[in-house]
Amino acid sequence: MKTIISPSILSADFANLERDIKLVEQNGADWIHIDVMDGHFVPNITIGIPVTAALKRIAAIPLDVHLMIDNPEKYAKDFINAGADILTFHYEAMDNDEKVLELIKFIKTAGVKAGLSIKPKTPAEKIIPFLNEVDLLLVMTVEPGFGGQKFMQDCAQKIKVIRKNAPVTLIVQVDGGINAETGRICRDFGANSLVAGNYIYKSADITSAIASLRK
Ligand code: DX5
Ligand code: ZN
Repeated sequence: MKTIISPSILSADFANLERDIKLVEQNGADWIHIDVMDGHFVPNITIGIPVTAALKRIAAIPLDVHLMIDNPEKYAKDFINAGADILTFHYEAMDNDEKVLELIKFIKTAGVKAGLSIKPKTPAEKIIPFLNEVDLLLVMTVEPGFGGQKFMQDCAQKIKVIRKNAPVTLIVQVDGGINAETGRICRDFGANSLVAGNYIYKSADITSAIASLRK
């Protein structure tokens, strides 16, 4: 299965987002990863709905929107209207499993891929009931909030449990501290989508950096 590479624009130059999106598009990126943070669910504030809508006008490849916000059910519709092609929310942001299921259904009914994400301290067992419902499962290998942190390999072990219990069509994505070496570990564990911010955007050779994530 081909690995889906999703460069995180959190590490791009925010004064040159159009240039930086074209740059990864021309170098083989599959999706554009947009990190949405609200200052509540995580201690940082980044991109919101109007910027996502503006990026939709620029991007030729799908927008992979990662919501790190409280009450994602309140904003899902707005991000779908803004042009999210994949909409991922956090398990920890939801009150109960029923609400998780409701939001997955809502996103899928809108014709958008639904993703569910877990933070480092959440065991894989918690989200097993949803593996047949979601299109994508995102395993965080850093505490969400900032780019450029160190990969936590014990979190990546969860990929194996998820893969074992998931339908073959599930996209298993990893996010946090991904480079050629950690990306390979995750692929060996069964991941087929890699998010990378710093490794791609801070590289002197973006073509090789993206290509190295597939090797
Ligand atoms: C972290 C974000 C990541 C981040 C990854 O909260 O969800 O997408 O941008 O950055 P790197 O690849 O630099 O760890
Ligand atoms: Zn992310």
